[in-house]
Amino acid sequence: MKNNKDKVLVIHGPNLNLLGQRETDIYGKFSIDSLNKEITAQAAKHGLNPEIIQSNHEGEIVDIIGQSKDKGFKGIIINPAAYTHTSVAIRDAISATNLPVVEVHLSNIYAREDFRKTSLTASVVNGQISGFGKHSYTLAVQALAFVLKRD
Ligand code: DQA
Repeated sequence: MKNNKDKVLVIHGPNLNLLGQRETDIYGKFSIDSLNKEITAQAAKHGLNPEIIQSNHEGEIVDIIGQSKDKGFKGIIINPAAYTHTSVAIRDAISATNLPVVEVHLSNIYAREDFRKTSLTASVVNGQISGFGKHSYTLAVQALAFVLKRD
């Protein structure tokens, strides 16, 4: 089983490095490191081997998505953060990859400011999970495992 895990990519977008310090009433008091530990533990239960990255840079995220299939990843979980609402480039990168992609948000983006209610990425991913705090990520791992038939 160990060597048989699907490699999956988890991408945290801009400002998520500040989790635990940033608007804690909205995003929670936990750090990105503790979140990553939970993601890794949940992934292991489903036979997934996650590589987790955080970037504040749109072009870097585009590059990482574009290279993911050649690097042997079988699926992607992405929180595009603020780029969810603005980035045609990240949307196109997701659309161009043939990998399954799950979009995830800590907060419920549909219950906040109007500008957050539009996700440019939602229409090119397999599905979106939004509003469950850090559990959004454990649900996203389950969703990707389901798509990859690892649930
Ligand atoms: C977010 C929601 C976005 O609107 C915001 O810009 C973020 C985080 C979330 O996880 O709830 O940075 O993606």
